Amino acid sequence: MTVALASVATTTRSFLLRDVDHRINGLLAQETGEFANFERRGFDPETGRSFTEPDRLLRVFLERQYADPDEELVGLVARRGAGPRQIIQPRELPVALPLHEDPGARRTIFESPASSGILRRPEGEIRWAKVSVARHGSEEPGAAFVVAFHPERETARVNEMFRVLLAISGVALLLTTGIGWAVAGRILQPVRLVRTAAAQLTEQDLTRRIPVRGRDDIAALAETFNAMLDRLERAFATQRRFVDDAGHELRTPITIVRGHLELMGDDPAEREETVRLVTDELDRMSRIVEDLLLLAKAERPDFVTPEPVQVAELTADVFVKARTLGERDWRLDGVADREAGLDPQRITQAMVQLAQNAVQHTTAGQTIRIGSRAEGSRIELFVADSGSGVRPEDREVIFERFRRGTVRRGSRGSGAGLGLSIVRAIAEGHGGRVRLHDTEGGGATFVLTLDRSQEEART
Ligand SMILES: Nc1ncnc2c1ncn2[C@@H]1O[C@H](COP(=O)(O)OP(=O)(O)O)[C@@H](O)[C@H]1O
Ligand SMILES: [Mg+2]
Repeated sequence: MTVALASVATTTRSFLLRDVDHRINGLLAQETGEFANFERRGFDPETGRSFTEPDRLLRVFLERQYADPDEELVGLVARRGAGPRQIIQPRELPVALPLHEDPGARRTIFESPASSGILRRPEGEIRWAKVSVARHGSEEPGAAFVVAFHPERETARVNEMFRVLLAISGVALLLTTGIGWAVAGRILQPVRLVRTAAAQLTEQDLTRRIPVRGRDDIAALAETFNAMLDRLERAFATQRRFVDDAGHELRTPITIVRGHLELMGDDPAEREETVRLVTDELDRMSRIVEDLLLLAKAERPDFVTPEPVQVAELTADVFVKARTLGERDWRLDGVADREAGLDPQRITQAMVQLAQNAVQHTTAGQTIRIGSRAEGSRIELFVADSGSGVRPEDREVIFERFRRGTVRRGSRGSGAGLGLSIVRAIAEGHGGRVRLHDTEGGGATFVLTLDRSQEEART
């Protein structure tokens, strides 16, 4: 804006100055034209004839003329050995040094070969034009009619206007700056609010929320920010609970180990029994730690590294491994003859977990079926047992970390309730999920559903 306003002011100034030039040149031309006309056609009022003496011609002409306020009309007649003699209209001029009081300037103008020009003096500029008059019968210019214009007042007026324009521009600039400042402040105020709210957030206190006002972009930003805080708060709460649970879960075996060791006597049989129990607990502990590490790894992007796998082969491998878990009526219930992008190690891990659970919830001789099938772009792997099944109220919670079912509460199973959360993490790592439904005739069936199209989209 500063540049624009300054250029408007200076352009206006130069336009006005050019206008002044134009007007002065017009005036000078008009006055000299009138004189030239009078010289050619005019008559001496006393004799009734044309003029013979330049002196008389100038005197008569000047008597009849009216000059502008900034204009001087001067007749100059040559004098031998000195500057020209002058014939003037006696009047006051609003300038520092008029031409009729400046013999040096008169002489310069009179002797100049040009018929018009600009005379620059310290006391002020003179724009002049002249008409030379030859003495009767000779070629020598014996006299001259001079029009002198003092442009000071005109240029001063232009400069005054320029200054006013600059002042107005300055005020406008200040005003717009002020308004811009205020408006920008108003617009940015909600942003500042978001910033201060964000700055006041700490890991301990994520409860703070930004007030949402209006329906503009800033409100949308605040809403997004609040939603992000909701997620963060939930994530932190989950993590805290996870750490609490993990601590609790690890403390139990430590307490048991300590108790056994403290009560250990000298009897070799008792000692052996204690060592067996302690080793058991330590195994349990190390399994929990391993599971925790695996779950922590599940957050990492390289948790699942898919590769082309023959699903039939994979299912058969899982079946062979599962069979070693216990004396059950193991059955391979169909395989999907299909290649799919899977992480075979992780899938095996998940299926073995499911098989282990199935073994835990069945008794010797009961049937456990393992198999896979393909439906469209989907691959399903399942473990179906004929055991006690899962109680309806447990169906949702058993997939969460450290959650066990209520049925066998009394007997502490070998796990810490992490098995199914690992299975779920592996399924989700493949872009799939794990579902639970009842086996026909009793028992639980866990199905890993992996969508190939999603698999391809992921990789
Ligand atoms: N095949 C199954 N039949 C019945 N209940 C099951 C079966 N698999 C899992 N559950 C229930 O789900 C709970 C969570 O299983 P899991 O996450 O593997 O933990 P854990 O095996 O350590 O108890 C188990 O405590 C059990 O109640
Ligand atoms: Mg388990």
